[in-house]
Order: sequence, then structure tokens, then C-alpha cells
Amino acid sequence: ETGALVDRYGRVAQDLRISITSACSLRCTYCMPAEGLPVIPRDELLSAEEIARLVGLAVRDLGVREVRFTGGEPLTRPDLVEIVRRSAEAAPGTPLALTTNGIGLDRKARPLVAAGLSRVNVSLDTLDREHFTRLTRRDRLPAVLAGIDAAHRAGLGPIKMNAVLMRETLHDAPDLLAWALDHGCRLRFIEQMPLDADEAWQRANMVDARELLDVLGTRFALTPVGRDDPAAPAEEWLVDDGPATVGVIASVTRPFCGACDRTRLTAEGSVRSCLFGDDETDLRGLLRSGADDATIARYWRGAMWGKKAGHGIDDPSFVRPVRTMGGIGG
Ligand code: GTP
Ligand code: 5AD
Ligand code: SF4
Repeated sequence: ETGALVDRYGRVAQDLRISITSACSLRCTYCMPAEGLPVIPRDELLSAEEIARLVGLAVRDLGVREVRFTGGEPLTRPDLVEIVRRSAEAAPGTPLALTTNGIGLDRKARPLVAAGLSRVNVSLDTLDREHFTRLTRRDRLPAVLAGIDAAHRAGLGPIKMNAVLMRETLHDAPDLLAWALDHGCRLRFIEQMPLDADEAWQRANMVDARELLDVLGTRFALTPVGRDDPAAPAEEWLVDDGPATVGVIASVTRPFCGACDRTRLTAEGSVRSCLFGDDETDLRGLLRSGADDATIARYWRGAMWGKKAGHGIDDPSFVRPVRTMGGIGG
């Protein structure tokens, strides 16, 4: 009963992703409704102190090796720097990363590095300002670009960029890749999963990896080089003669669930064993009722044991999770 977060299929979760807010400065159509997600009352969010306690416990007792903060948009949380600082103190030497839309990084990149942040992944789907505005429902492209620039200057490079594949922006992909190469970013394209609020996702109309590669192939010569490591979601392609690569996260057409190494905490402090697993296990109540580390670790292990084999998107019996991506954090 001690040790790692294993599930009944033999997978070991070593990558912890913590959502810290449901608020966001954008409203990407594939992620949340136009009106945003319901605000989580402050006392229902894990505090910086509670997050750090769980990070320390996960690294010490559960074999977690890397921690990533997500949202909503994590930079909208005023105490993000404190969350990172306390987490770094609780788990010295463990890489701490952020998945962000980049808005606000211009002011926060340096303090975050000083607090102990190791890496950032920035979501950016297109460099066409009108397309960006339509997709995110906000005219904020310049703020995202300023954020990426500041992150590089603060020493957070090379930055990974995430672009969700959407029909409206598919033909912007070659320009996005050229820009990423030019700016020293590692770009990854992601197949859209059915985690949007409007239920507009359709399997038959989804842009898949194949279609992306055809579009990129009109400008670049691509050679497959495989995954950086077996649990990495992205398959990499060498661009022209290299050394740069472009990644493709084909979550739908080439699922990697069999190698999944993730465990998640929601902003309200529950363990979520899979993006698509709605049965969550509350740890916040345990924390607040004075439970010791061993008890919390036991519940966390129990939650992960029940992890689903895979997302099952292509199963006839598939049902979407209740939460949209914005409420899980990616
Ligand atoms: P690195 O460790 O830097 O490679 O980060 P990452 O790719 O694990 O994290 P990031 O937050 O950048 O996620 C990239 C994309 O992968 C997300 O946008 C999701 O679409 C997808 N993704 C993340 N976690 C999962 C997961 O558990 N399952 C599936 N199917 N897709 C995921
Ligand atoms: N499918 C795949 N990826 C998504 N993201 C948001 N919504 C979806 C979706 N429906 C990505 C964002 C960000 C990460 C947190 O998840 O672009 O990079
Ligand atoms: Fe916000 Fe990121 Fe979701 Fe877009 S994808 S709405 S930026 S959390």
C-alpha cells in the first residue's frame, strides 16, 4: 500500500497536473463557453499552502516527478507566484511547469522564475489576428506574443507552443511553424478532443494529424523521428534538414492512453485520474479536517487505481465528461 500511483492496468502516474482556477482571460471555443466557467468561490479553491502540501506529499510519498500548473488560465490567479514559491520549497529539485495562454507573462515571467518555475508551454493557435479573435473570442494576440517574448528573456526557453487543430485555422499552420522556428519555440499541434462547451466537436469533421501533415507538407519537408520519451504525448517530425522538429499530439487518431503517466488535481482539490474520468476523489475535505499525509496518500492511490483504460472517444458507448477542458486544465 505504499509507494507509487499505479492503476489496475499497470500504468504509473509520475506527472502531476494541478488546475488552480477556472477563470480565464480568453474564451477559446474548444475549451469553454462564451460566458466563461462558473467562478469558484475563493474558499473552495485550494490555497497556495494546501497546494504546496499536496505537491510535497506527491513527490515524497507517491513518486511524482514533475508538476504542472494549469487552469482555466493560471496567470489569472493573483497568488500564482506564491503557489510556485511554496511548491518549490515543498519539493526542492522537482521541475515545476506552467501551461498558459501567455497573457500576463510579460509581467510575471521574471518573478515566476525567481520563485522556482522551470518551464512554460504557451497555447497559441494562429498568428492571424482575426482568426485568433474569432477562435478565442478576445482580441488579445499582441498580449500573447509579448508573453512569449518575456518568457524567453526571463530564461524560460525553449518554450513549447500548443496549437489545437481547428478547421478555421488549419491553413495558418505553415506560418505558425515558420514563426516558431524563427523564435526558437517547439511547436506542437493537437487534435481537438470532445471537451468543448458547445458540443460542436464532431469526429467526422475533426482536423486530424494526417490532414495537418498534408498542409505542412506544402511548405516543409517532414521526416518522422518518434517520441522524445515513451510517455510523451507528441510524436516529433524533423523539419526540413533539422535540427528543429514539430510535434503532433494525435490524442484521437493515435491515442497514447496506454502509456499515460498523468494524475490530476482539480482547482477544488479533487483527484481526477483521467481527462475523461468524471469520478473525482476529494482531498480538500481530508486536508481541512486535519488528515495526516498517510491518509491523504491512501485516498490518492485509491483514486488512481480506478483510472479508466483510455478515453474511449471512438467507442459507441462514449459519453462526454461533464467538465469542459477549461475546468480540467488540459
Ligand atoms: P510537456 O511535459 O511539456 O510535454 O507537457 P504536456 O504536453 O504534458 O502538457 P500540455 O499542458 O502542454 O498539454 C499539451 C496537450 O496535450 C494538451 O493541450 C492536451 O490537449 C493534451 N493532453 C494533456 N494531457 C492529456 C491527457 O492526459 N490525455 C490526453 N489524451 N491528452 C492530453
Ligand atoms: N482538445 C485538445 N486540446 C485542448 N486544449 C484546450 N481544449 C482542448 C481540446 N478540446 C489545450 C489548450 C492548451 C491545453 C491546456 O489544452 O490549447 O494548450
Ligand atoms: Fe483559456 Fe486555455 Fe481554455 Fe483557451 S484553451 S479558454 S486560453 S484555458
